[in-house]
Amino acid sequence: MSIVIKTQEDIEKMRVAGRLASEVLDFIEPHVKPGITTDELDRLCHDYMVSVQSTIPAPLNYAPPGYKPYPKSICTSINHQVCHGVPGDKALKKGDIVNLDITVIKDGWHGDTSRMFLVGGDASILAKRLCAVTYECLWLGIDQVRPGGHLGDVGHAIQRHAESNGFSVVREFCGHGIGRQFHEEPQVLHYGKAGSGVELRPGMIFTIEPMINAGKAAISELPDGWTIVTKDRSLSAQWEHTVLVTQSGAEVLTLSAGAPARPGSRS
Ligand code: MF3
Ligand code: CO
Ligand code: CO
Repeated sequence: MSIVIKTQEDIEKMRVAGRLASEVLDFIEPHVKPGITTDELDRLCHDYMVSVQSTIPAPLNYAPPGYKPYPKSICTSINHQVCHGVPGDKALKKGDIVNLDITVIKDGWHGDTSRMFLVGGDASILAKRLCAVTYECLWLGIDQVRPGGHLGDVGHAIQRHAESNGFSVVREFCGHGIGRQFHEEPQVLHYGKAGSGVELRPGMIFTIEPMINAGKAAISELPDGWTIVTKDRSLSAQWEHTVLVTQSGAEVLTLSAGAPARPGSRS
C-alpha cells in the first residue's frame, strides 16, 4: 500500500468524519469529572457515536497484525499511560490527566482525534506544563504541513520543542495516513530531521499525534496487550488532529465548536 491522494469527494467525506470525531470529544468533556470510570466514558461515547451520530467506533474489535481485537470503543490513557489505554472500572480522581482518543467511521471514512483533560480542573504544575507543551508540539507540527514540505519537518519541529522543554518524544508510535483505512501510509514520526522523509503533496491526509513524556522516552506494554505506559512511570501526554495537505498549507479536519483554539505565540 502506498500513500493515497484523496479526491475532492473523498476530502468532503473526511471533513465530515473529522468533525464528528471532534464532536464526540465536545460531548464527553462535561462528563470527565472525578468519580467517573473510564468504562462509563466509553459507554457514553459509544452510545453517542452509534445512536446520535450514526458513526461506527473504529477501535471496537480493531485487530492489526500481532494484536488481539481491541475490546472498547475509545482509548482512555491516564497519567503515566502513553496511549491505547483500555477503559476499565477505575474511577478518575482530581488531579489526574487523561487522554481521550476518538476514531469514528462515517460513510466508510475515518476521523481520528484526541485531547488531554485535567480531571477536576486541577493538576500539578508539571502535568499542566506537559499538556500545554504537547499541545504546542501538535500545532508546531501542523504549521510545518505544506505542499513541497517534508514529513521530517513535522517531526523535527515537534522533537525540538519537546526536548527544549526537558521532555522526551515516544518513538514506537507515530501518526499515520488515514482515509478508508484507520491506519494507512505514511508513518508520521514525531522526531526527525528537517527536509527528510516523504515530500508532502495536496490531497494527502494524515494524523499528527505526538506522545510526549515528562521523563525518559522508553515505554512498555501492559499485560492487557494494548495499554502503553512509560517505563519510568513518568507522566505522558498526547494530542491528535487529522490534517489535510492543501494547495497552500494545511487544513485541520478534526475541528468542532468545542475544540480548543490553537496555542498563542508562547514558545
Ligand atoms: N486512535 C489511535 C490512533 O490515533 C489508535 C487506537 S487503536 C485502538 O492511531 F485499537 F487502540 F483503538
Ligand atoms: Co491516530
Ligand atoms: Co487516535
